[in-house]
Amino acid sequence: MEVVIAPGDELARLAAEAIETLLTGRPQAVLGLATGSSPLKVYDELARRHKDGLSFARARAFMLDEYVGLPDDHPERYRNVIEKEIASRVDFAPGAVRGPDGNAADLARACADYEEAIAAAGGVDLQLLGIGTDGHIAFNEPGSSLASRTRIKTLTRQTRQDNARFFGGSVDDVPRHCLTQGLATIMSARHLVLLATGRAKAEAVHQLVEGPVSAMWPATIMQLHPHATILVDAAAASRLQ
Ligand code: F6R
Repeated sequence: MEVVIAPGDELARLAAEAIETLLTGRPQAVLGLATGSSPLKVYDELARRHKDGLSFARARAFMLDEYVGLPDDHPERYRNVIEKEIASRVDFAPGAVRGPDGNAADLARACADYEEAIAAAGGVDLQLLGIGTDGHIAFNEPGSSLASRTRIKTLTRQTRQDNARFFGGSVDDVPRHCLTQGLATIMSARHLVLLATGRAKAEAVHQLVEGPVSAMWPATIMQLHPHATILVDAAAASRLQ
């Protein structure tokens, strides 16, 4: 596990650089996209590089997770967030960016179909990740099986409180359920790139890098990945030994 401590803008540049290097060598690469605030500067940097010639035209992308039950046009539906923050700003082909369908009539079927789609694409080459203050990656909350695959999960009160800022500050408006790639799904990606900034992430980053591997801090599974890059600013790194 490689840990890089640098200012936020530099972290975004490093993540974008890794994606540009991948796409240059393998234009048909499969990217894993995260939502939340952590990757936003990376998406800004990718949009800038796209203007300078970086193409996503042959690439595909899979999202990590999706809320269950938000209306199709809700601005916080992750499919819409990804469209706004990155997909519409670069040249992905129509249908090249996929996410789990949180409005499917049969959610279990939608999860199984999503796993099949990732496998059929040959797996994810580079997965961007954020981390929750409770140590979740995607929406694998504490107690998630380390062997989990895409499935329906209940969000913790902590995560719903953390995400209330995207819902006008109202925790009651944050959905209670989501579909999320499992920890084993994420671990199947060939390169994991996690970004974390700010003091609120310091304990989770400490556990991720220095804690024992435990389902109670789901991100610790990344210690077992052969190619994991942890990009953190000084505040998020402040509890590292
Ligand atoms: C989002 C996701 C979550 C976030 C995490 C951190 O797709 O899977 O795990 O990465 O909740 O969120 P931010 O970046 O908003 O602090």
